[in-house]
Amino acid sequence: MDLLNTIQNWSKDHLKNADTAHDYFHAQRVANTAQTLYLKNHHDPNELLFILVASYIHDCFDDKVVNSPEKNKSSLTSLLHQFGWPDEKIHHLFFIVEHLSFSKQLEKAQSLSYLGQIVQDADRLDALGAIGIARAFTFGGKHDALIYDPDILPQTELLNLEHYKSRKGTTINHFYEKLLTLKETMNTSEGKKLALNRTKYMESFLKEFFAEWEGNK
Ligand code: ADP
Ligand code: NI
Repeated sequence: MDLLNTIQNWSKDHLKNADTAHDYFHAQRVANTAQTLYLKNHHDPNELLFILVASYIHDCFDDKVVNSPEKNKSSLTSLLHQFGWPDEKIHHLFFIVEHLSFSKQLEKAQSLSYLGQIVQDADRLDALGAIGIARAFTFGGKHDALIYDPDILPQTELLNLEHYKSRKGTTINHFYEKLLTLKETMNTSEGKKLALNRTKYMESFLKEFFAEWEGNK
């Protein structure tokens, strides 16, 4: 089996108990979007493969998604050694994965290589648009959040990681606290373009939501 197939199977296996916001289908969407972003301006098959591998495995070492991040790390390292990847390339892969997420960036902001920036844009894009709306309400439901409460105002000041994790709010507020601002954090111009389109879609959803909330529709 080739490397990509092997990685896809490895990812499927290691994400089988993940929540639906971080499951294999999320990894697959990130890989497909990352490929779209990469192929706009670049055409190196090895770089593309690197990006796909990073996308498929990016949530497999996060302790909020999987039970044994360290075990997964050594399992993947030996797999990539079998395919002849040098240590340097494997370090680059783990560096990207470890600095990708929104919460990790709040903890310690790091600049990523352009391959990492593409994967990060693709991961952020999955929090936007129709998929982003579905993920937000799934998250809200799981954490017993209200859909909306006009008396709870959005908290747009994110102080630090503890604050980000401990906030109680509504799912609609999450759009104002995070999702509508994500477009400003895109690394690549292609990523930014897609983020703007997906943000417009969310804005029209919110407009419809409030019109229905007020009974105006
Ligand atoms: P990451 O894995 O990049 O650190 P999160 O775990 O914070 O991101 O978010 C995963 C998904 O859950 C995203 O689509 C995000 O919008 C959604 N989400 C995170 N926090 C909330 C929240 N408080 N309310 C609604 N959705 C949320
Ligand atoms: Ni992700």
